[in-house]
Amino acid sequence: MKVNSLPSDALERGHCYVQDPSTTIACQLLDPKSGERILDACAAPGGKTALIAEQVKNRAFIVACDREQRRVRAMRANLQRLSAQIALVEQCDWTRQSRSILQSANGGFDRVLVDAPCSNTGVMRRRVDVRWRLTLADFGRMQERQIAIIRAVLRLLKPGGVIVYSTCSLEPEENEEVVRRIVAETPALRLEAQKHSLPFRDGFDGAFAAKLVRST
Ligand SMILES: C[S@@+](CC[C@H](N)C(=O)[O-])C[C@H]1O[C@@H](n2cnc3c(N)ncnc32)[C@H](O)[C@@H]1O
Repeated sequence: MKVNSLPSDALERGHCYVQDPSTTIACQLLDPKSGERILDACAAPGGKTALIAEQVKNRAFIVACDREQRRVRAMRANLQRLSAQIALVEQCDWTRQSRSILQSANGGFDRVLVDAPCSNTGVMRRRVDVRWRLTLADFGRMQERQIAIIRAVLRLLKPGGVIVYSTCSLEPEENEEVVRRIVAETPALRLEAQKHSLPFRDGFDGAFAAKLVRST
């Protein structure tokens, strides 16, 4: 919901969660439906998972995973506070095999969101450390991590299913180039839509999202 003034009371009581408008781009492309099986693969601290739960009116099977134990704990608390209890929260590192996720996949997911770890260049206006921390080599390193995560979760996507890949990076190496490589190596995947936000054009954080559909 877009508001013109901060709902301080609701914030203090923990009834709402503040997100930048760029967050919604990936969830719009994902377009989840009630009754579907949805995997939010890099989910902590749960901002997009909560949005997805709202989109499906809390009527879907959502698995929300993340590698970091501390962030998984924060996500559990956030999702409970926001009444998004339909999400099953699991700690999982996609670069290692996780048997429990494969079990809960039970025939695969209809929609998968990969909100990948990235260089964060789209949120540099708020996170000033980013410009001092980043080196040129980071973009290539990030690309390999992002592709490894997509490859792992693709195995869990049903034929006919949708995968949305998103970042809060402005870098082609982490966005279009990742999508190009994944589509090139996966003939069953088709790029259906791609969206950007840019801080200097849109007045909010930078983000990228691509929607891919699996044919078989
Ligand atoms: C951009 S953040 C996710 C933000 C979240 N989607 C939200 O809207 O609140 C990326 C997340 O990916 C997680 N991550 C990084 N590498 C991972 C991996 N190999 N497996 C699972 N999660 C990973 C990080 O711990 C981090 O929480």
